[in-house]
Amino acid sequence: MGYKIGDVLVSEEELKNKVRELGKRIAADYHGKELVAVCVLKGAVVFLADLMREIGADVDLRIDFLAVSSYGATTKSSGVVQIQKDLSLDIQGKDVLIVEDILDTGLSLSYIKKLLEERLPASLEICVLLDKPERRTQPVEVKYTGFSIPDEFAIGYGLDVGGQYRHLSAVYIAEPAE
Ligand code: IMP
Ligand code: MG
Repeated sequence: MGYKIGDVLVSEEELKNKVRELGKRIAADYHGKELVAVCVLKGAVVFLADLMREIGADVDLRIDFLAVSSYGATTKSSGVVQIQKDLSLDIQGKDVLIVEDILDTGLSLSYIKKLLEERLPASLEICVLLDKPERRTQPVEVKYTGFSIPDEFAIGYGLDVGGQYRHLSAVYIAEPAE
């Protein structure tokens, strides 16, 4: 089944303001510290790219990438999480912030959190742009949340359906195309 771009869920302006606000909070919390931001590929790349520039120079920031898969080319979770690309940095003793596009069932983030905890970081927190609380099956503690959204499939600003629409500047509802 194909999808098309539906209504706007979060506008470009709202994204910009929220990312700035999150960046400021993170900058204050990690002021003078060494932080490793772990971007969960591919969905969080756009968010990370904007967020890291809002964090600013008062944080000694490094970035790294992790890829996991829990979805195929559809909007339904397969329920299986696998590592596709691991970190290149050693995070032992480091302050680590996981940066993710969306928290849905919680399966991916609870898996990623457990995986990174085993590597003994000094601290480990989560920052998600979007949250669909209605869909949660695994509880996940998130320190920084952008927007709570209804149970709709979101696309744009990094989020895809079947690999498409990541490059849109706002977040839209993916609508089934007849
Ligand atoms: P969870 O494991 O169910 O929490 O799913 C999280 C992952 O599923 C995210 O990293 C996304 O890649 C994907 N996902 C969940 N909901 C959406 C959505 O509405 N749009 C695009 N991707 C989504
Ligand atoms: Mg993702």
